[in-house]
Amino acid sequence: KKSIIMDCDPGHDDAIALILACSCDKLDVKAVTTVGGNQTVQKTTNNALRILQYIGKEIPVAVGADQPMSRDLIIAPSVHGDSGLDGPELPQPTRKPLAIPAVQLMAEVVEKSEDKVTLVATGPLTNIAVFLLAYPRLKSRIDRISLMGGAAIGGNWAPAAEFNILVDPEAADIVFKSGIPITMAGLDVTHKARFYPEDIQEIKNQGGKVARMVGELLEFFIKFHNSLGWDFAPMHDPCAVAWLVAPEIFESKHLNVTIDTCGEFTTGCTVTDFIGVSGRKPNTDVLLGIHRKKLVNMVIDAVNKYD
Ligand code: BDR
Ligand code: CA
Repeated sequence: KKSIIMDCDPGHDDAIALILACSCDKLDVKAVTTVGGNQTVQKTTNNALRILQYIGKEIPVAVGADQPMSRDLIIAPSVHGDSGLDGPELPQPTRKPLAIPAVQLMAEVVEKSEDKVTLVATGPLTNIAVFLLAYPRLKSRIDRISLMGGAAIGGNWAPAAEFNILVDPEAADIVFKSGIPITMAGLDVTHKARFYPEDIQEIKNQGGKVARMVGELLEFFIKFHNSLGWDFAPMHDPCAVAWLVAPEIFESKHLNVTIDTCGEFTTGCTVTDFIGVSGRKPNTDVLLGIHRKKLVNMVIDAVNKYD
């Protein structure tokens, strides 16, 4: 089993990534840490706790950064609603997060673990960057960082920047320069990880309570994308989990990725050297394609494990 820490800002697709990770026999989710992103960290923490309670997992949760390293927080209520997880009825959590900060929980998990730990990041990279700065001696104990963020080409929150990286480019810069192997599930692949209305229906048809809740998350999430003229919901964050267990359903290239932290129009861009012209060493497995129906089937298998 691969030991992982889920660092997230739930978020509809973060919630589905968490449900996928917690259902998977090949993964051992040791901790969940939260970050401000899709909503404030208070709300993303509450959402992580609500999801874990709903699926019956007592995994430790710790609160992370409430703002980026050196910028104001950007949130995304237009995509995820006022709660950050609008749609399904999810009871309030009976459990509280731990009293220690996210980076301390990360350190404790990494220190205690016999094997190296994989970090899965599906929000802005603030916590991971702070962890690397605060605990440099633990860097060698991190196997890999599998993250949703960036785009080799294009953006979503800005013409050349994806939301998670745009929110905290300074943190992303630290992470991509860390020397730790990185898997980047950026928009290149996540915009191909399409969940159509018939896929959502198929998930709901599984019939269990987790299937229904995931269906309701997707029904809310697809609405924003419908307003863009898209007939599908892109399943961003689950890609960062799915790659760990089924890399064969993805296409990828090992390339250099550098973060632009101060471009006039390109701040937050994950500058990806496809042609080897920069002379910089490849540091990232950049995901570029996916067998999308296999991801749908992974989510179907996941929801069926809970009921
Ligand atoms: C990313 O931003 C958030 O809205 C999603 O949860 C995902 O992590 C996509 O750009
Ligand atoms: Ca996210």
